[in-house]
Amino acid sequence: MKDYQNYVNGQWVSSAKTLTIYSPINDEKLGTVPAMSQEEVDVAMAAARKALPAWRALSAYERAQYLHKAADILEERKDQIGEILAKEVSKDIKASISEVDRSAHLIRYAAEEGLRVYGSSLEGGTYEPAAKSKISLIRREPVGVVLAIAPYNYPVNLSASKIAPALIGGNVVMFKPPTQGSISGLLLAQAFAEAGLPAGVFNTITGRGSEIGDYIIEHPEVNFINFTGSTPIGQKVGKLAGIRPIMLELGGKDAAVVLEDADLDHTAKEIVSGAFSYSGQRCTAIKRVLVMDAVADQLAAKLQAEVEKLTVGDPFENKDITPVIDESSALFIEGLVQDAQKKGAVELTPYKREKNLIWPTLLDHVTTDMEIAWEEPFGPVLPIIRVSSLDEALTICNQSEYGLQSSIFTSNYPLAFDFASKLEVGTVHINSKTQRGPDNFPFLGVKGSGAGVQGIKYSIEAMTKVKSVVFDIQ
Ligand code: NAP
Ligand code: G3H
Repeated sequence: MKDYQNYVNGQWVSSAKTLTIYSPINDEKLGTVPAMSQEEVDVAMAAARKALPAWRALSAYERAQYLHKAADILEERKDQIGEILAKEVSKDIKASISEVDRSAHLIRYAAEEGLRVYGSSLEGGTYEPAAKSKISLIRREPVGVVLAIAPYNYPVNLSASKIAPALIGGNVVMFKPPTQGSISGLLLAQAFAEAGLPAGVFNTITGRGSEIGDYIIEHPEVNFINFTGSTPIGQKVGKLAGIRPIMLELGGKDAAVVLEDADLDHTAKEIVSGAFSYSGQRCTAIKRVLVMDAVADQLAAKLQAEVEKLTVGDPFENKDITPVIDESSALFIEGLVQDAQKKGAVELTPYKREKNLIWPTLLDHVTTDMEIAWEEPFGPVLPIIRVSSLDEALTICNQSEYGLQSSIFTSNYPLAFDFASKLEVGTVHINSKTQRGPDNFPFLGVKGSGAGVQGIKYSIEAMTKVKSVVFDIQ
């Protein structure tokens, strides 16, 4: 049990108020983090603003050295940080360590990618006679102070994926970790601090989003908001941001569409891994299966067999299904299951809950009048919806308020590409589960799933802006 501090202007600082962080696994007290006041946020924002000119004046090569150092520190401490992360967000220990490792690799990749941010030039080419003597030098400049806000389910990785591209692009960063996940976030901050970043370049803000969130979003020093979290909070962030640029990565209701000619053994394995890893608490988790009637019985039996193999329990025993983040989330999930049960869904694996631990639940014969067909449970529950045509599958996919990803399982590639072009989502996977990685690919949601494009190169582009300097050669 430790009292953690915020990193502000190169110093570790406390606040008068603190929040105690408990483990969702067993209520163990893990430590306290500061609940920052508005005045303390102002001090941190001013420090960031002051640090900006010198940081952006460095070459990308010089900035990259700090990122490589931070990545080295993270890698050295992956076991230690992974252990806290596992306790803090109830993620299995192997996946927790691998989250830290993935983040170190992502930071290194961002450092390298930052070296390849090239400018360009254009010669005037419009109808005015004066155009032909004009040349534009087009450079990319940092946007300024970036506010990075991350969700609980990847407190290290979805923080690093904002911080590293922002820093290499010449920006300074205000980082607000999720409250449940803030200790892990502060350990990530420690790696950047120990990498020797100049004071003020990287600062942290802890405190409940419901208390400090609006204040930091509306803060006049913030030039860019990079937010990952739920759709309702993302919508609020969008409204408060005004005309400032934002990146929003929000919720999803990813579908796995299974056609008659799919390899059903492979499909069932991919779907179960995609739906149930980290107990379904991933934006990219498969959250519904849309299967053609002709192969529905066969697929359902294979899915059932795979789900029955999943182990349930302690993250430190690397169980597949671990307690969800809190009891109120578990009750929300239970409400969706009860609604489906009432309306006639068939449980292929029985629903069972002990406090915030929910056994993996596979529901068959789900229909579109059930809430589980549309809502994001963020838990270990997978509905199967049987459809009679590809058109019906497309209609159900696109009726969703979300548009993150979808998978299609088929051996007919022309059909898969045609279907992909009609889906209202950011990414379509053919014959594999929905997932964010590889981290250098573009990652985005449309409709209620977000705005803007992440992915290392794309994040750097989003957090740098074009400056055009025009001169006349005559
Ligand atoms: P959340 O409740 O929306 O919280 C996300 C972050 O926003 C947390 O740091 C939270 O702080 C903060 N926050 C809360 N209220 C705020 C406000 N008024 N202003 C500013 N910040 C505020 O989401 P979550 O429960 O942590 O994460 C689960 C959700 O995130 C799911 O819907 C999931 O699909 C989505 N998600 C999407 C992606 C993607 O890339 N598309 C990735 C991961 C997760 P506190 O923790 O202090 O409340
Ligand atoms: O929760 C949302 C994450 O962006 C998902 O990432 O597909 O690598 O688990 P992942």
